[in-house]
Amino acid sequence: MARFPLPPGSTIGVLGGGQLGWMLALAASRLGLNTAVLDPDPACSASRVAVRTVTADYADPEGLAALAQACDVVTFEFENVPAAAVEQLAALKVQVAPGARALAVAQDRLEEKTFLNGVHAPTVAFRGASSAAEAAEAAAELGAPCLMKTRREGYDGKGQRWVEHASQAAAAFEALGSRPVILEAPADFVRELSVIAARSRSGEIACFPLGENHHENGVLRRTHAPAAAAPPLVEQAQQIAARILSALDYVGVMGVELFELKDGRLLVNEIAPRVHNSGHWTLDGCEVDQFEQHVRAIAGWPLGPTAALARTEMTNLLGSEVDDWKKLAADPDARLWLYGKGEPRPGRKMGHVNRLQPLKD
Ligand SMILES: Nc1ncnc2c1ncn2[C@@H]1O[C@H](COP(=O)(O)OP(=O)(O)O)[C@@H](O)[C@H]1O
Ligand SMILES: [Mg+2]
Repeated sequence: MARFPLPPGSTIGVLGGGQLGWMLALAASRLGLNTAVLDPDPACSASRVAVRTVTADYADPEGLAALAQACDVVTFEFENVPAAAVEQLAALKVQVAPGARALAVAQDRLEEKTFLNGVHAPTVAFRGASSAAEAAEAAAELGAPCLMKTRREGYDGKGQRWVEHASQAAAAFEALGSRPVILEAPADFVRELSVIAARSRSGEIACFPLGENHHENGVLRRTHAPAAAAPPLVEQAQQIAARILSALDYVGVMGVELFELKDGRLLVNEIAPRVHNSGHWTLDGCEVDQFEQHVRAIAGWPLGPTAALARTEMTNLLGSEVDDWKKLAADPDARLWLYGKGEPRPGRKMGHVNRLQPLKD
């Protein structure tokens, strides 16, 4: 078993080699740590930085064994890692951080909301349903309109449908593939916020300043940070995050998506047990960024300082927007991050831009 803190020269394994894995590998490299990445695509973004790329499916026992053999600790860039993969890594005596419990909770929206309410992290009202009849009953109980989401595997707004009348619930259930769903009461939010929080192996917790998030078609478009927020709101968010991380005995960075209601209360929308798109602003706007923070946490190092150095606007470059790279490269206010992905398919996250302004006093 690995001994913590991992010294420079140790190797961190990452399941998934997309942009998040790539930025984790960059951060690890800066701290003298190596990265080995497992991804089905040999040309994945992280392969350009990792010292080793294992090309395999996430559920492939041989690939997982090769990764475990090369690493002192394994983490992941997405939460839909098969449970069997985490069990295999544990059987191979490699440390996985965040742990299996955090993954299980974040993989299932019904378990997630049940867990959150159990630790006094408030959410919208919700009901689970596993059949068309149950879905109709749940919609009637909850009241329409309500939002139906598949319990598993949704992302970027996929796998969701608004149910305008309870009578439409059965059809919505079928349209979502007749899979187990959760129905949620609408959150009447004034804005969407997120807090990126980290917990170290010794239980220390640090939160970055709040981000204010703007979505388009279910995809994050822009984050403004630090979000304009009075101290009690910031404290409320930090307390919610701390309750979640402590209850999960969490190690690493987590993204906590929040709805701010008119009366100033915060509800948790969902948690992401990994570095998060709404934390990309920290790459240029904070003392230590979320990727370094995650590496520090899982390697058993102390957490770094999270204060903002600048007011930052992060804009995702989606699809062919990346073709503007020449213009952006010539813009002295734009800090440009390009993920090195080949095909700019519509909506695909190809890069992001951070624009900095001095902090207001
Ligand atoms: N209960 C809800 N009420 C109102 N809007 C919601 C609700 N749940 C989600 N949304 C909106 O849909 C977006 C995506 O939903 P989310 O649950 O975060 O799924 P994803 O995993 O796709 O990010 C949210 O950022 C928010 O804008
Ligand atoms: Mg979300």
